[in-house]
Amino acid sequence: MERTLIIVKPDGVQRGLIGRVISRIEERGLRVAGLKMIQVSRELAEQHYGEHREKPFFGELVSFITSSPVVVGVVEGPSAVSVTRSLVGATNPVDATAGTIRGDFALTIGQNIIHASDAVDTAKREISLFFDEDEICGYTRDVDRWIVES
Ligand code: RTP
Ligand code: MG
Repeated sequence: MERTLIIVKPDGVQRGLIGRVISRIEERGLRVAGLKMIQVSRELAEQHYGEHREKPFFGELVSFITSSPVVVGVVEGPSAVSVTRSLVGATNPVDATAGTIRGDFALTIGQNIIHASDAVDTAKREISLFFDEDEICGYTRDVDRWIVES
């Protein structure tokens, strides 16, 4: 079972899309194992986006992600990292396929609704950045046997 981190970014929260974004992830069959609304601090934003520190858009990225509360979640299921990335769509919404979250809800790269971890190792690092162990629930749903064969 794989886990990934998602963030409904400030634009998703401000536009009232929290439920619709998370619904798409649940509808696919993935399970929410942790969920909370937080105000990201500058320090946490700089840590989370550390790989982009040298990029010209780093300042804007940090300002944006700290500009409103966000909803962070831990999502789990088979191949959760790659399945969630495919639900999310291309980084630039202009290139995102219709039917993906960014392809349906966004238009510009700086306001693209949702973050999702890009690899299994990244997911582990990002989950531990945003969640304490006791904030993540290990559980199964009755419906899971109709989604994943045992
Ligand atoms: P994310 O980390 O938010 O899930 O997005 P991603 O993996 O698809 O894209 P990434 O390369 O990690 O970039 C992180 C966020 O930075 C903004 N960005 N702006 N102006 C630009 O050229 C540019 N490039 C990236 C985007 O908001 C992207 O989601
Ligand atoms: Mg990324």
